[in-house]
Amino acid sequence: MRNILITGGAGFIGSHLVRLMVNKYPGYKIINLDKLTYAGNLANLKDIEKRENYTFIKGDICDFDHVKSIFETMKIDGVIHLAAESHVDRSIKDPFSFAMTNVVGTLSLLQAARTSWDGNYEGKMFYHVSTDEVYGSLSDNTTLFTESTRYEPHSPYSASKASSDHFVRAFHDTYGLPVIISNCSNNYGSFQFPEKLIPLFINNIRHNKPLPVYGKGENIRDWLFVEDHAAAIDLLFHKGKVGETYNIGGFNEWKNIDLIKLMIRIVDRQLGRKEGTSDYLITYVTDRAGHDLRYAIDSTKLHKEFGWEPSLQFEEGLEKTVQWYLNNQEWLDNVTSGDYQKYYEDMYNRQ
Ligand code: NAD
Ligand code: DAU
Repeated sequence: MRNILITGGAGFIGSHLVRLMVNKYPGYKIINLDKLTYAGNLANLKDIEKRENYTFIKGDICDFDHVKSIFETMKIDGVIHLAAESHVDRSIKDPFSFAMTNVVGTLSLLQAARTSWDGNYEGKMFYHVSTDEVYGSLSDNTTLFTESTRYEPHSPYSASKASSDHFVRAFHDTYGLPVIISNCSNNYGSFQFPEKLIPLFINNIRHNKPLPVYGKGENIRDWLFVEDHAAAIDLLFHKGKVGETYNIGGFNEWKNIDLIKLMIRIVDRQLGRKEGTSDYLITYVTDRAGHDLRYAIDSTKLHKEFGWEPSLQFEEGLEKTVQWYLNNQEWLDNVTSGDYQKYYEDMYNRQ
């Protein structure tokens, strides 16, 4: 039996990871701690919410006393930490909340783990989910981010994630806390909040709304199917080496404008329109401040050590993703109207 605390499990990646762990490990207790910010949505976990090996706790990772009491009462022996403010554009408008959750919240979890485990680290693990954005931006088209690339964050979001990574390493080096960090590239798939490029644009294409392309659309991102990210976290949580960092990515770089044109073709086709009908929606707008030009992850270490590779080709994953959003308009409507935030209240009022 293992008692695993997953933070941010009601968000996009967290909900996929919670589902995977609850289904795959009936002998574990999976405890999902989530503040339910605008990005947290319990409807993402409807299919597993009544499972015996799953518990949801509403709480803020910055609340040290609450976090510590969870460690002690639930005898937590593993943490997979995903809770974060995750959207770059929001970090430009409100950097404080990013420092609070991403830095102070991570520190609060680390301190709760250290003081509860009290040097008895046998069978314990603190797994920190981070991002490729901590490495900064690549200016040429050949280099890739490796695990030893120097940190050079540019946005308040990536600066806060970089800082949290440093705290995680500091707890390993100073107190011997067993930690693993993974840095992943851009994820796509179901249940992603429609402020991020792919779900926002799929929804806008469907409703004939403008597609706001930042700058010239020449920025490059490296895309990975969210279920492949969750599978890599599960693998590394169980088999990764303590104190190590692992990059996760699928060697799948796309220039934004090329990806947007591909999305248009897929959405148009799936809606029964002639492919390219919606090209006219492309609208070039003012660039994001400090917009990183290119991210590209080298995940050779993960592949060499564990044979991990993405399960899906990108076009196949994108087809599935478009289909999911087109079939789940109600989910999109709920999150865009804010109705989903009533789901938690209704659910707990019914009990
Ligand atoms: P998300 O914004 O969809 O979800 C974040 C979750 O954290 C939400 O459920 C939210 O309610 C919760 N949360 C926020 N503040 C909290 C707090 N103070 N206390 C408790 N819960 C809180 O994020 P995501 O895209 O699923 O990203 C998850 C993690 O993966 C983040 O750490 C992010 O940095 C990292 N990451 C994301 C991507 C990506 O492409 N989305 C890529 C690499 C790494
Ligand atoms: O690289 C991993 C990161 O990927 C994660 O750490 C972040 O949590 C996640 O949000 C994501 O960050 P990005 O900034 O790359 O993702 P976003 O979907 O916001 O934007 C993807 C690209 O599309 C980026 O170059 C900006 C551009 N874009 C985005 C939006 C929302 C547009 O051109 N127009 C838009 O409206």
